[in-house]
Formats: sequence, C-alpha cells, structure tokens
Amino acid sequence: NLFATPEHASLYVAKQIAELIREQQKQSKPTVLGLATGNTPKRVYKELIRLHKEESLSFKNVISFNLDEYYPIYPEDEQSYTHFMRENLFDHIDIEPQNIYIPYTDCSLDGIAKYCKDYESKIAKYGGLDFQLLGIGRNGHIGFNEPGSSFDSVTRLVNLHELTREDAASDFGTIDNVPNHAISIGIQTITQAKKIVLLALGERKSEVMRKSLQGKITTQVPASILQTLPQVEYVLDHEAAALS
Ligand code: GLP
Repeated sequence: NLFATPEHASLYVAKQIAELIREQQKQSKPTVLGLATGNTPKRVYKELIRLHKEESLSFKNVISFNLDEYYPIYPEDEQSYTHFMRENLFDHIDIEPQNIYIPYTDCSLDGIAKYCKDYESKIAKYGGLDFQLLGIGRNGHIGFNEPGSSFDSVTRLVNLHELTREDAASDFGTIDNVPNHAISIGIQTITQAKKIVLLALGERKSEVMRKSLQGKITTQVPASILQTLPQVEYVLDHEAAALS
C-alpha cells in the first residue's frame, strides 16, 4: 500500500491496530501485539494515544511484546527501548504493566540463553503474535535480525552491524557508546505472526525497500523473506517507494 505522506501511512497503520483491538475486544479475546521502535512507528503510536484519549480505545486487553532491545542497557537509560516505549506509547494509554514485555537486558551473559527461551515461550503461551509492526534497517534488518540471520532464528543475543550502530550513534552521542549487541526476537518468531505490517518511510529507506521487495530472497536482506508470506502488508510513503 502506497501513501502520499508519512502521516497518511501512519494513520492507516494505527487504524488497523485499533480495529483489531476493538474486534478482539468484542469477542473478549486479548490482542497480542508485536511492537517496534525507531523513528518510523512514532507517528503510529501518537495516533493510538489520540484514539485512546479521544475515541475511548482501550488497551486493557492488549498484550505487547517488543521486538528487541540493546544489550547491555538499563531499562532506565534514555536510549533503551523500554524508555522509548514508555515515552512514546505506554505512559499515555491504559495498558496493564504486567502485559508489557520488552527484552530485559540488564543481566549477565550466563542468564541470556534461558531468558531468550522464556521470552519465546511467553509469546507462544499467548498463542503467538496477532499483529507484528515492523520497521526496517538500512541493511534490511527486521527487529535486530541483521544480514546473515537464519530464517528460522528465534529470540537470541545478536551482534549489531556497523551500519546499524552508525544509525544509532546520534541517539547515543557517539558510535562508541552504542552497544555491540542486542536481544532480538527471531525471523521465525516474526514470520509466525498472523498479520505483519512493514512500515517504511522516507527516501533513506528507498534502496533497502527496492532490495526487499524486488531483490532475491536471501538472508543477506532479512526483510526479503517477507515476500513469501501471504499475511504481510507493506505500507510505504512515496519517498520510500521511489525505487520500487
Ligand atoms: C532499529 C530497530 C528496528 C527498526 C530500525 C529502523 O534498528 N531495532 O526495529 O526498524 O531501527 O529505525 P528507524 O525507524 O528509526 O529508521
């Protein structure tokens, strides 16, 4: 789906999420959302907050799992995705704190494998993700599944690529402060979601969108796997779609 502006694209995605939540609510079912961070989804979250405040959209029956988090980082750190999610969404809506899951990476390396396994089982326990919102990195990553990630990967500790760290440098002051690692849910975890929306906005994403939409399916461009899935919807503004 192609939209004239980032604004139109974001409102469209927010509306889909709101409709899903309301639909599930009618059937007294929880909605399991997979949420993303970065600049791209910010406008979507802003609209969800507006719908909460002005159109009584309730998040009481929402369970949310975030895609990823830097490792190591404290949840209180300004650059953490916990901080991002609070500031951009959770602090402004009525989601129950116990229904919020974000990889917690203030832990030692020893505990990580078990932690990742538990994160994955929690998603499974809720019956998987009903809706996964994705952004895309300039190297084609989804979540923090960098090029080379296997298509059947699950939640795990990953190494961040140089381009990813460069893109994060402005958030951290300098590239040296950007962690080298992260915890990310896997490509398999993502592709099992019942509905997936990849949102890409702006000229910076045009080249990677061309590769992801029209290039061959390869682990070198993790988002390319989405071409094979019927439940995927691409939502782009004109700039992001310019080369596709
Ligand atoms: C980070 C996140 C991704 C996100 C990407 C793009 O790497 N882990 O989930 O899609 O950034 O960020 P932006 O939307 O700011 O371009």
